[in-house]
Amino acid sequence: MENQTRIFCALDTSDLEQAKNWAAQIGPVTGALKLGLEFAGSFGPQGIEAVQNAAPDAALFIDLKFHDIPNTVAGAVHTICTNFAPSYLNVHAAGGQAMMEAAKAACETASPQTKLLAVTILTSLSEEELYKIGYREGLPDRVIQMALLAETCGLDGVVCSSHEISLIRQSCADSFETMVPGIRPLGSAKGDQNRIMTPKEAVQIGATHLVIGRPITAAPDPAKAAQEIIDSLNAL
Ligand code: C5P
Repeated sequence: MENQTRIFCALDTSDLEQAKNWAAQIGPVTGALKLGLEFAGSFGPQGIEAVQNAAPDAALFIDLKFHDIPNTVAGAVHTICTNFAPSYLNVHAAGGQAMMEAAKAACETASPQTKLLAVTILTSLSEEELYKIGYREGLPDRVIQMALLAETCGLDGVVCSSHEISLIRQSCADSFETMVPGIRPLGSAKGDQNRIMTPKEAVQIGATHLVIGRPITAAPDPAKAAQEIIDSLNAL
C-alpha cells in the first residue's frame, strides 16, 4: 500500500525565481510545500501567490508561527486563511488557551479545510536555555502539556522534533497530527540540524507529516531526490 505520509518540502530561499522553479519541479512530486518567515518577509502575499501558481495542486503549509494576543493572532490567521486557504498554518502553543481557541475559530470561519498546528517548544532550545527563560519542568513534560492543551483547544496537531513523536503518539488522539522537521535521508548532510532522524525512522514511530528542505532543494536533481524519499517510504 502507498504510504500516506506527506512530505512538505521547505522552500527556504530569498530568491523568488528559485522558489518558483523549486515549486514547479518538486510540487508535483511531493504534492506539498512549506513557506516560512524568511520567504514571507522577502516576498509577502505576492510571493506566496506566485508559489501557489507555480504548483497549483500542491498542499501548502504556511509556517509563520504566530505568537501574540488572541485578537491579533485571530486577525492574522483570518487574513492568511482568507487570502491563501493553505492546507496548514501554525501558532505557538505558548500563546495560551484563549489565543489558540481564537486562532482555531478564525481558521474555521475563513477556511474550514485549513488545519491549524501548534509549535510546542522550539527544537533549537536546549534544557539549559529553557531554564534561563524560566521553564523549570523537563522538556518532555512541557512538550506533552502543550500538545494536550493544543488538542483541547481543537488544534489539529503539532510541529515537533522526531524525538517527541512517540511521546505525542502515547498522549494524544490517533488523529492528532505530527509535522516533523529535522529529517535527513541516509547519506545527506546534517547542516545545522542537531537531532535528526531518517524519513523511514520518523514514519515508523508515528510521524504523520515530514518537513524536508535541503536534502531535496540542495540536491542536483530536486525532483529525483524527492521521489527517492517517497519511494523509501512506500517500501515500508
Ligand atoms: O533544510 P531542512 O530540512 O533542515 O529544513 C527544515 C525546515 O523546517 C526549515 O524550513 C526550518 O525552518 C523548519 N523547522 C525546523 N525545526 C523546527 C521548526 C521548523 O527545522 N523546530
